[in-house]
Amino acid sequence: MADYTPTPQDKFTFGLWTVGWQGVNTFGSAVRPAFDPVDTVHRLADLGAYGVTFHDDDLLDPQADQATHSATLKRFRSALSDTGLSVPMVTTNLFTDPVFRAGGFTSNSRDVRRHALRKVLDNIDRAAELGAHTYVCWGGQDGAETEAGTDTRQALSRLAEAFNTLCAYVRDQGLNLRFALEPKPNEPRGDILLPTVGHALAFITELDHPEMVGLNPEVGHEEMAGLNAVHGVAQALWHGKLFHIDLNGQRGVKFDQDLRFGAGDVKEAFFLVDLLESSGYTGPRHFDFKPPRTEDVTGAWTSAAACMRNYLILRERAAAFRADPEVRQALADARVDELAEPTLASGEDVASLRSESLDLATVRERGYHMEHLDQLALEHLFGVR
Ligand code: GCO
Ligand code: MN
Ligand code: MN
Repeated sequence: MADYTPTPQDKFTFGLWTVGWQGVNTFGSAVRPAFDPVDTVHRLADLGAYGVTFHDDDLLDPQADQATHSATLKRFRSALSDTGLSVPMVTTNLFTDPVFRAGGFTSNSRDVRRHALRKVLDNIDRAAELGAHTYVCWGGQDGAETEAGTDTRQALSRLAEAFNTLCAYVRDQGLNLRFALEPKPNEPRGDILLPTVGHALAFITELDHPEMVGLNPEVGHEEMAGLNAVHGVAQALWHGKLFHIDLNGQRGVKFDQDLRFGAGDVKEAFFLVDLLESSGYTGPRHFDFKPPRTEDVTGAWTSAAACMRNYLILRERAAAFRADPEVRQALADARVDELAEPTLASGEDVASLRSESLDLATVRERGYHMEHLDQLALEHLFGVR
């Protein structure tokens, strides 16, 4: 049995808000105490993580004064240097404060939009100081319950304006920072802007500096919409836009479960790890999960450790699947390799295409034997091969 102990080379990262989630939900109050970010850094390092991420408000209490913020940052920095943990990504909380009840970058209130931009600019400065190269933007309150209360085309213009402003700032300051948009279909808003990977990819093409903006897809967010998260991530990769990823688990079309990675749709998790590991993606494997409310503090850390362990198990299972000679044969039988061959030869004219014809009767009989291939995948996943 392989050793599934994570090391920093595996590039596992966690948000302070993930393990530190106190369990407040729509119907229930907090079930766990607040964690001290410094303890979280030490704990993550002990478990073998590579880095930690945070929203501004996770680290710096918005009610506290400047002196307190400086002291907190100092303690946090020493915890990072004591443990060697890095901060590859930072993000902003543009959702908890009631001022954002009608959105952040796309609030109908211009003063709120200006406040939202200020909040992000301040936190970009901190992100750069801590060495982050990715800035995630999840516009959870940028949406609507009623079409009458917004103008979606204007909201998209304001959203584009926000990213153009932020990109200009990063360029002016000479920072090495890229933005990663995180799509989500709904929750907390009835409908959120940029609900899927596809919407976000299309939006980016309209920006002044599309090369500075990519995606942070979250497994559960695609699945909440009934979409295939592996296909979404593959398309982000295809566009060169997988800047970051939020790994977690979800079971079907329902509220955002944020289960630990590997729980939920296990088969999709298997194929996602297979994709990430074979794609050349070198970024962090970031877990954005919430330990369920059933868990006490010990259980929350069990859940965190299991995210990494599950990734490593799936990585090993996926490698075994790819190395299996029977799988290679089944892939060939299913003609998967043939998909990589251009449909027209280089320089070939459509005239030659038209000069040939397909033996329809024969090809109509052609089977692809994908059930056999899929069963081999499942058996590797089940650990019986
Ligand atoms: C969610 C989101 C958030 C974001 C985070 C980063 O729970 O719906 O995934 O966790 O990832 O706010 O900006
Ligand atoms: Mn989520
Ligand atoms: Mn997320």
